Amino acid sequence: MTRVFSGVKPTGHLTLGNYLGAMRQWVTVDQHRAESLFCIVDLHALTVDHDPARVRRLSRQAATLLLAAGLDPELCTVFVQSHVDEHARLSYVLECVATDGEMRRMIQYKEKAARERARGGSVRLSLLTYPVLMAADILAYGAGEVPVGDDQAQHVELTRDLAARFNQRYGYTFVVPRATLPKVGARVMNLQDPLSKMGKSDDSGPGIVYLLDEPDVVRKKVMRAVTDSGQEVVYDREARPGLANLLEILASCTGGNPSELSGVYESYGALKRDTAEAVVEVLRPVQERHKELCADPGYVEEVLRDGAERARAMARPTVDAAYRAIGLLPAASDPVAVDTGAVDSGIVLNAAR
Ligand code: TRP
Repeated sequence: MTRVFSGVKPTGHLTLGNYLGAMRQWVTVDQHRAESLFCIVDLHALTVDHDPARVRRLSRQAATLLLAAGLDPELCTVFVQSHVDEHARLSYVLECVATDGEMRRMIQYKEKAARERARGGSVRLSLLTYPVLMAADILAYGAGEVPVGDDQAQHVELTRDLAARFNQRYGYTFVVPRATLPKVGARVMNLQDPLSKMGKSDDSGPGIVYLLDEPDVVRKKVMRAVTDSGQEVVYDREARPGLANLLEILASCTGGNPSELSGVYESYGALKRDTAEAVVEVLRPVQERHKELCADPGYVEEVLRDGAERARAMARPTVDAAYRAIGLLPAASDPVAVDTGAVDSGIVLNAAR
């Protein structure tokens, strides 16, 4: 069965963009058709200036919201990255396969580092090596598919390169994954700035609908969305990005089609009102379930504990195989040291050189 891996970084509250752009696909499609892992990637949240208490809070909240949105621990594995040591173990090995030039070419690194330096701050080394840790996240599980937004495509491309390079140098160890863009859902843009994505990290409140926003807050944000000059409601992403964003949100919430919906509305006001209500209705069950889960924190903890245990069991053999293949001596107490199979082929391969 196909294995799917994706991650949520606990650097901000989850948004409607995360939900319509990614989480809903995980819930309605991926967990049913593939062996799926969804990970709160907390180690990644430490690559930029952070507040320890906030990261901890956001990690728990993200886990709770993933379950509230409908991820079912009977169908998929939900866990926290730092609970499974294999990520960090494998990341180091992959750092010995990646080059510094490759890291410095990553667009997200260049942008974030430039922004940080412009503010007079310093850039954490982990921001540079972040894509290697992300590669480790994926490769540890032999995931074939990685559903991510297009801003992560370059990182998945790097993951493919590292996997192929490792396999070629040290013997076949890793599945070479590919990025998949969600089939269900939309790329939701910031309501105040429809040319940039509705991200969680850039906490500029009024253009971002958070999953836990109260209905009245949602209504206010949608009604105040920036629209384009003009009178008619037409669907044109290039010329009318603000309007297109609203039509796409409405379509995504109601299962409609943005260009058909544009014909239904005569005024921006009516479109905004219906979009606001559609968003409120989509968020309602998630918020209700979130409230129930918050009343039962023991349940969420248990899910995360089981999830980490399952994840560890899946990742361990692959990461151990990578250690062997790259030349690390197995500890005598390590049961895999006397095993056969993958270990032997690694030894034979390396001895033959
Ligand atoms: N880098 C991703 C982001 O910023 C999060 C992430 C970390 C991830 N590890 C991953 C996504 C592995 C997919 C697979 O959104």
